[in-house]
Order: sequence, then structure tokens, then C-alpha cells
Amino acid sequence: MILRTLLAGTLLVSSAAMAQQAITPEPPLEVDAARAELGKRLFYDYRLSGDTSLACASCHLPEKAFTDGLPLSAAYTGAAHFRNTPTLANVGYRDAWMHDGRLGTDLNDTVREMITETYLMNMDMRIMQERLKQDPVYVEMFEAAGMSEPSNGGARNALMDFMKTIQSRNAPYDSGAMSAAALRGQTIFEGKGRCASCHAGPRFTDDRPHNVGVPSNPDIWSDPERHSAFVTYAKFFGVPNYMNLREDLGAYIRTHRDETRRSFLTPTLRELTWTAPYMHNGVFGTLEEVVDFYDAGGGDDPLKDPRLKPLGLVPSEKADLVAFLESLSGDSFDVDAYVWREDDYDYALIEDWRDVPN
Ligand code: HEC
Ligand code: HEC
Repeated sequence: MILRTLLAGTLLVSSAAMAQQAITPEPPLEVDAARAELGKRLFYDYRLSGDTSLACASCHLPEKAFTDGLPLSAAYTGAAHFRNTPTLANVGYRDAWMHDGRLGTDLNDTVREMITETYLMNMDMRIMQERLKQDPVYVEMFEAAGMSEPSNGGARNALMDFMKTIQSRNAPYDSGAMSAAALRGQTIFEGKGRCASCHAGPRFTDDRPHNVGVPSNPDIWSDPERHSAFVTYAKFFGVPNYMNLREDLGAYIRTHRDETRRSFLTPTLRELTWTAPYMHNGVFGTLEEVVDFYDAGGGDDPLKDPRLKPLGLVPSEKADLVAFLESLSGDSFDVDAYVWREDDYDYALIEDWRDVPN
């Protein structure tokens, strides 16, 4: 008990110290330190997927600002995903989630979806609870976090608290260390580029869906494993003719209103340095390609947002815009605060547990 109290105390101190050191875009969110610590361990635990092949961190890698570097994400054994893994930087500040914005109530819903969806972690919650209960470290961590025993609801809340701690830190944009090129780029971003009308606020997103005409990624339909995951998804949301559909309808699956076809939530522009490739389907590999796309007035789509018009940027202006986008990236997340290292933790039970011969 003494050890647990000590541990909770230490965590509070260390997260407070971290908040003081780092320059963040918004004030830190309130989290329970012991619960966030539990969430951190869960985030890296492969036992949260049905066949133990995937942890959250398999697709959300800290060294890539919690993305995976792939155009389209991996998925559960036998499937492949049809979307690009979004960054989790500042994810606790969003008010709608997933590229299509289909989850808009609570970050907790995204956690449930990730764990239970058949093409994601395909986990039966009854089994998850049993797995957690059988691990003495979890038993102790749940207790330290004020929960009597491991439960699914507790695990989801803990994962949510961990994600709320994932905040951009020390970006030149926030620390005042922007280059001259980045400052020139900011003028374009806010002025003739018209970027700030959608990429607004400290996270550079309005959390709303828009159609910017991003070209389709043919790999979704040529790869049977991706296609089957897409069909499962489109069928679940009651999209007509889902077997023959050859486009990602984005927000339409939630609204069923034609004018929202192929609209996707404005992504944050924080941490882009770490999160290539870009867009909901990873079709652009570099920021230069994204800037060329907007310079041409966006893509070719009858429902495209009227704000997108050819910009006529000269090469130096494009380079400045890229420099501005890069100035919105901060420190890597590949640090102790965000990576679970089993050996760093001194739990009362873990010692006895490790001493037991296998
Ligand atoms: C197999 C890869 C994979 C795994 C494993 C995975 N994710 Fe994801 N995650 C994704 C993809 C892809 C999306 C976007 C899905 C979409 O738009 O339909 C996503 C979206 C999210 C979002 C919404 C982000 C936003 O800005 O909209 C959150 C939060 C999230 N994941 C957290 C988690 C957590 C917590 C776990 C573990 C319980 C997890 N993910 C496991 C690939 C993965
Ligand atoms: C009409 C609203 C709107 C405007 C104006 C706009 N964007 Fe976007 N932006 C979006 C949406 C929506 C997406 C996601 C599209 C998708 O995934 O299909 C996006 C995606 C991006 C991405 C990719 C981010 C990622 O993580 O994948 C970058 C970079 C970007 N925009 C930069 C800009 C710049 C620079 C400008 C100005 C030249 C601009 N945007 C103007 C709405 C807008």
C-alpha cells in the first residue's frame, strides 16, 4: 500500500514537471496520473487484440507521432485497412474522430471501436477482461488507479487518459523559433492560400468534414483483404450497393446526405514532419506534393469545397509554405513519458511475479 501511494505521488510530480518544461499549444488536459500510466501499459499490450498480434502501438508508433508511416494501415490477421492511421498528437482536444467523423461523442468510443472492430483488434470484451484479471501487474495497477479490479470500462478510461497526455511539445511555431521562410509561409497560409479557413485554431483544424477532392487510392479495391474490410465497414453503415462501391464516401456514411460524399474531417497540421504519408488514404508521400495539390486548386470532384481555387504560387512561395507546415512539428514522442518500459516500474507484486519460475 505504501508503495502504491508513493508511486501515485511520483507520477503526479513527474507529469507536472513535464508540463512545466514543454511548450504546448494548449493547456494540458486534466487526467488521473495513475490511470494514464495504466493506459500507457495497455497501449503497448498485444493481449488487447484477439490473437495477440496487434497492440495500439503497432499502428500508432510514438516515434512517428503515433502514426505508422504506411499509406494505408495494417489490420487484424487476414484483413488490411482502407484508411491511413491518424496521429494521436492532441487527440484529446478533438470533438469528432475518425477520418469520416463518424464518432463524435467521446474519445472513449474510439477506443471501443479500435478494440472490438473485427478488422482492427477483433477483441471480445469478455476475454479481454479475463486476460487483464490474470495479470498480477494489471491487478495492482487497476487498484493503484482507484479501481477495485480490472474491467473493460476501466481499461478504456485508462487508455483515454493516456491519450489525453499525448500533446505536441516545443514546436517552433509555439516557441517563437520560426525561420524567416516559415514566417513568410505563414503569411501565405493565412492569406492567399486560404488554408486557415479550414485549418484553424491551435490544432489547425475545424474538426469538420470538407471535400477537397483527394484522389482515390486504388490499392483499397485491388487488394482483397483491404476490400473485404471496406465492405464490412460500408455494409455496417448501411451504404447502398456496398459490394460494388469503388470509392470511400467519407462523412456520407454517417449523414447519408449526398452533398457530404467524399468529405473527410480536416486533419490537424501538427506533427506533419513525423506523419507522412498524408490524407485519409495516404496518397501523398510528401508535403511538397500536398502543396502542389492545393496550388492546383485541390482535386477534381464535383462536390469540392468552393474555397479551393488555383493559387498560382511560385516555387519559392511553395517552399515557404512547406517550411511553415514543418514549423508546426515539435519534439518526437519517443520518450519515457510516452513509451512503456516494463523495467522502469517498481510494483510490489511484479517482483514476486518475475521470481516465479516458468
Ligand atoms: C491495425 C492498426 C490500428 C490499431 C491496432 C489501432 N489503431 Fe487506432 N486507428 C487506426 C486507423 C486506420 C484509424 C483511422 C480509422 C478511420 O478513419 O476509419 C485509427 C483511428 C484512431 C483514433 C481516432 C483519431 C482521430 O483523430 O480521429 C484513435 C483515438 C485511435 N485510433 C486510438 C487507438 C487505440 C487506443 C488503439 C488500441 C486500443 C488503437 N487505436 C489501435 C489504426 C489502428
Ligand atoms: C476547404 C477546407 C480546406 C482548405 C481551404 C485547406 N484544407 Fe488542407 N485539408 C482539408 C481536409 C478536409 C483534409 C483531409 C482530406 C482527406 O483526407 O481526404 C486536408 C488535408 C491537408 C493536409 C494533410 C494532413 C495529413 O495529416 O494528412 C495538409 C498538409 C493540408 N491539408 C494543408 C493545407 C494547406 C497548406 C492549405 C492551403 C494551401 C489547405 N490545407 C487548405 C481541408 C482544407
